[in-house]
Amino acid sequence: LNGFLASLFSSAPAAASVPAGKRIAVLYASQSGTAEGLARKLAKELKAQGHTPAVSTLVGYTPAALAAESHALILASTYGDGDAPDGVQPFYEQLCLEHFPRMEKLHYSVFALGDKHYEHFCKFGADLDAKLAALGANPICSRVDSDVEVEQPFADWKAAVLAQVNKNDAARIFAPPPAAAAIAEVKSDDAVKPARVAEPSISRDNPLLARLVDKRSLTKGAAAKVTIHLAFSTEDGRLTYEAGDAFGVIPSNDPNLVAEILQRLGFNGNEQVPRGNSGSTTLHEALLHNLQITRLSRKIVQEYAKRGNCAQLLAMLLPEAQSKLEQYVSERGLIDLLVEFPGVLDDPADLVAMLPRLTPRLYSISSSPAAHAGQVHATVAVVRYFANQRERGGVCSTLLADRTTLSDRLPIYIQPNKKFRLPADPSAPIVMIGPGTGIAPFRGFLHERRALGHTGRNWLFFGGRSASADFLYREELESMRADGHLTRLDTAFSRDQEHKVYVQDRMMEHSRLFWQWLQEGASVYVCGDASRMAKDVNAAMRKIAEQEGGFSHEQAEEYMAHLKDQHRYHRDVY
Ligand code: 2AM
Repeated sequence: LNGFLASLFSSAPAAASVPAGKRIAVLYASQSGTAEGLARKLAKELKAQGHTPAVSTLVGYTPAALAAESHALILASTYGDGDAPDGVQPFYEQLCLEHFPRMEKLHYSVFALGDKHYEHFCKFGADLDAKLAALGANPICSRVDSDVEVEQPFADWKAAVLAQVNKNDAARIFAPPPAAAAIAEVKSDDAVKPARVAEPSISRDNPLLARLVDKRSLTKGAAAKVTIHLAFSTEDGRLTYEAGDAFGVIPSNDPNLVAEILQRLGFNGNEQVPRGNSGSTTLHEALLHNLQITRLSRKIVQEYAKRGNCAQLLAMLLPEAQSKLEQYVSERGLIDLLVEFPGVLDDPADLVAMLPRLTPRLYSISSSPAAHAGQVHATVAVVRYFANQRERGGVCSTLLADRTTLSDRLPIYIQPNKKFRLPADPSAPIVMIGPGTGIAPFRGFLHERRALGHTGRNWLFFGGRSASADFLYREELESMRADGHLTRLDTAFSRDQEHKVYVQDRMMEHSRLFWQWLQEGASVYVCGDASRMAKDVNAAMRKIAEQEGGFSHEQAEEYMAHLKDQHRYHRDVY
């Protein structure tokens, strides 16, 4: 038993409370009908033993549906040149695109059918088995490869599978059926319906592999900072969201950086290492998909310094060297430690234990579900910088900018942001303050309000460095301004004149009108930089209340709190 199963056993209720019958998906990839026939036989047997089998072809089946199962028995024929049977290829291709461990809940076994006369005997079944294992699925017994005489191998496999499935202990590892995945039960042997599997909902743990359908730069030549517009397909509406929501991307690291790290360590990447809470994976997979490798922390430096007894690093860990350490860490990643202090790590597991998990990255959605049907848009500032002799970049923004091209798929999910919603009243006025990528949700709001026919007035404050370089979505915004959908558009380009001009300066220039809108019931939304902009905008609003409302400092504070209580002051700042 590995640690994962052991921990489940130790916390499992008494055996008597565990129901014996389990739902078991019986899946087949059949060319001539043999695999299908065996699948039905197996289902009959499972049912006789008190289980609830659900038979389905892999034609039209999805990896998401499989990931929602707690266990699946798969009968897979190989056809032609080691291929999947007709119609099963799309499922397999989709599965091959997956590269993060999402099958951890699945317990499975494969019965592979083939013909020894062919070169690629049982290749599809073997490939499927290997891919599922790589995605973290747990084999309940090993694969059986069968030649055209299937009877005996099938009987052997069935016996092994049933023995495992009927084990009391095994019952504890099977999660209850996911509520969302309603599967047609096998009614009788003659009337086996292919199971219809409702898609489990998309979430961080069950992301959607969405296709990139559009990508363009929103900034022009001189912009020091590049910002890109991305559109992903919602894949037949499987991703649903509301204007104001964010979406998460499950990122992967730069393969070149991973290769360099492996080379520095003298590992080939095939070394098995523990993965998360359960199972194992290769070091290459872990570095590519599971671990944060671009940033250092005090903790990493500490671990590394202790392990290698690196005097220079140990000195920086002393309390008096705090600022030196901060500086060191801010300019480096794992690769720099490996270059500057080689020969410290000889066990791949030590490296894996030292690094934090790679986590999803969130972006405010810049589209409107009403106006951009079938798509979800993001507005992403690409993080690049040069430090300690190297070009460096943000994991996810460089993935999107450099390593994702049209038609590529990325695992994404929606992160609802219920606090950032348009007013329920379609005639209520709104004021939006969103410089830089802070424009994202407001582009969504503006399109949403137009598509839904909201009549409320819209006022946008936008800012950037210069109008020629980073006036994001300029044409769209100016045309909305021209046709009146955008009642006011006030921009602040900080570097287009001698003195810095920021969005809060524009607010102050129009303080009387701003106050008037507030008196008329406007809701205020702020999105973007939290460290400076959002604070300064907050201060400007308070000042407007003092100046235009005649409030004292305290009264103005109370007024702002009151706006928040009334859900008329919303912030999405980062
Ligand atoms: P700056 O870099 O020219 O100073 C988007 O990044 C814009 O936000 C830039 O024009 C940037 O200006 C500006 N910005 C910087 N600090 C700000 C602040 N405190 N309030 C509002 N905008 C700010």
